[in-house]
Amino acid sequence: MVTWETLRRDPRMPLNGWRWFTRRLRRLLPTGLYARSLLIIIIPMVILQAVVVALFMERHWQMVTQRLSSAVTRDIAAIIQIIETYPQDADYNQITRIARDQLNLQISIEPDGELPPPRAKPFFSILDGILSDEIKDQIKRPFWIDTVGDSSLVEIRIKLPDKILRVLARRSQTYASNTHIFIVWMMVTSLVLIGLSILFLRGQIRPILRLAQAAESFGKGQRADGYHPRGADEVRRAGLAFILMRERIERQIEQRTAMLTGVSHDLRTILTRFKLQLALAGDNPDLQGMSEDVDDMQSMLEAYMAFAKNEIEEDVGEVRLREVFEKIAQDFSLHGKTFSYTMEGDEEVAVRPNAFTRLVHNLASNARRYASQLQIEAKHGVRWLTITFDDDGPGIPEKNREDVFKPFFRLDEARNLDDSGTGLGLAIARDIARSHGGDVTLGDSPLGGLRAIIRVPA
Ligand SMILES: Nc1ncnc2c1ncn2[C@@H]1O[C@H](COP(=O)(O)OP(=O)(O)OP(=O)(O)O)[C@@H](O)[C@H]1O
Ligand SMILES: [Mg+2]
Repeated sequence: MVTWETLRRDPRMPLNGWRWFTRRLRRLLPTGLYARSLLIIIIPMVILQAVVVALFMERHWQMVTQRLSSAVTRDIAAIIQIIETYPQDADYNQITRIARDQLNLQISIEPDGELPPPRAKPFFSILDGILSDEIKDQIKRPFWIDTVGDSSLVEIRIKLPDKILRVLARRSQTYASNTHIFIVWMMVTSLVLIGLSILFLRGQIRPILRLAQAAESFGKGQRADGYHPRGADEVRRAGLAFILMRERIERQIEQRTAMLTGVSHDLRTILTRFKLQLALAGDNPDLQGMSEDVDDMQSMLEAYMAFAKNEIEEDVGEVRLREVFEKIAQDFSLHGKTFSYTMEGDEEVAVRPNAFTRLVHNLASNARRYASQLQIEAKHGVRWLTITFDDDGPGIPEKNREDVFKPFFRLDEARNLDDSGTGLGLAIARDIARSHGGDVTLGDSPLGGLRAIIRVPA
C-alpha cells in the first residue's frame, strides 16, 4: 500500500530545499488541529501588535516626549531670563512662587559651586537624551540632569554666572509616561480575544474529535451508535458519509454471514442424509473413502457455522488474558506438549470476548497440532495489544505465508502431517483480528518454527 509515509521515506524522492524546509517546519509545529488553529490565530496577532508597537508607538512616544521636554525647557529658559534681567528680592520669593503656581516647577537658587559629575546615561530611557538635547539647544549653559530612578520628579541644575538654578519638574511634565497604558490595553484585549477564540475553536474541533472517535471504535469492531454528525457543514458531511459507509459495511458483513450460514445449513442437511445412506449401504470398503470425505465436509461446515454464529452481533466486553492462556496451558498438558507464556501490562482487554478467544485458540491449536512447544509473549501497551506465538514446528515457507490465510488452504496435503484440520483456522483468525482493527502476521520464530503475531488496538 502506498502511503504518504512510504513516499516520504522513499530515497528516490528528490529532497529539494523547499521540501526540506516544510519537513523541518512540520516537525517543529504542533501536530494537533487545535494547537495549529490557535497558532494560526495567535501568530498574526502577535506580529501585528509587534509592528504597531514598534512603528507607531516608538514615533508617538518620542514625539510626545520631545514636545513635553521642549515646553519645560522653554519655561526654564524664561525663568533664567527673568532672574537675569529683573532685580530680584533677596530670597527669590517672587520668582519661586510664579514658577510653582504658574509653571508647575519647583525652583531654588543656590550659591555658586561646581555641578556634580554627570550621571551614567541610562540605557533604556529616551527622556535623558531628549531633555539634554533640548537644554543644550535652548539654554546653552552648563547643566546637570537626573532622570534616573523611579521618583516622580526629574531634577535639572543649571549653572548661571554666580549661582546655580535648581529645578524639580514632575516627570509627567517632561515625558509621555502613560504610553504603556496603551500597550497594556492592547495586551489585555488580545488576551480576551484569544480566550474567546479558544472557546469557539473548541466548539469547532469537538465534532471532528467525535467523528474520529466514532471511526476508531468502528474500526475496532465496537458499535458506536451514539454518534450524530455535528458542527460545521464540512464536518457534518464527513460524519454523514462515515455513517453511510458504516451502514454499508455492516450490511455487507451481515449479508455475507447470512448467506454462508444458509448455505452451510442446507449442505449440512444434505450431508446428514448422505451419511445415513452410506451407513445403510453397509461395510463396503469401496465406500470407506467416500464416508471419510463426507466426514471432512461435515467438520468444515461445523467449523464455519460455529464461526458465523460468533460473528453475528457480539458486543465488546472484558477478556482476561491470563484465563485464556491458562485454558491453553491445560489443553497443551492434556496433549503432552510444552507451553509457557509471559504477560506485560494490563491483563484485561476490551474486545469481543468469544471472537477474541477463538482467535487466540486458533493460533495456539495450530502450534499444538504442528509443533511440540509453544511460547506466548503478550504485551499490552497504551495503544496496542501484541501477542506473539513462537513454536518449534516445521514453520511455513515464506511463499505460502499469505496463502495459508485463505479459507480451506492447507499445507498438510503435501506434508502428510495430520488431516483432521479444515484449513479455516487462520482465515478466521485474520478475519477476527481485522474486525478488531488489527491483524495477524506470520514470520520465523527463534525456536525454529512459526512465529504468529496478533496485533490489535487496545
Ligand atoms: N504453527 C504452524 N506450524 C506449521 N504450519 C502451520 C502452523 N499453523 C498453520 N500451519 C499451516 O497452515 C495451514 C493453514 O492453517 P489453518 O489453521 O488455517 O488450518 P488448519 O490448522 O489446517 O485447520 P483448522 O485450523 O481449520 O482446523 C495448515 O494446514 C498448516 O499447514
Ligand atoms: Mg488451524
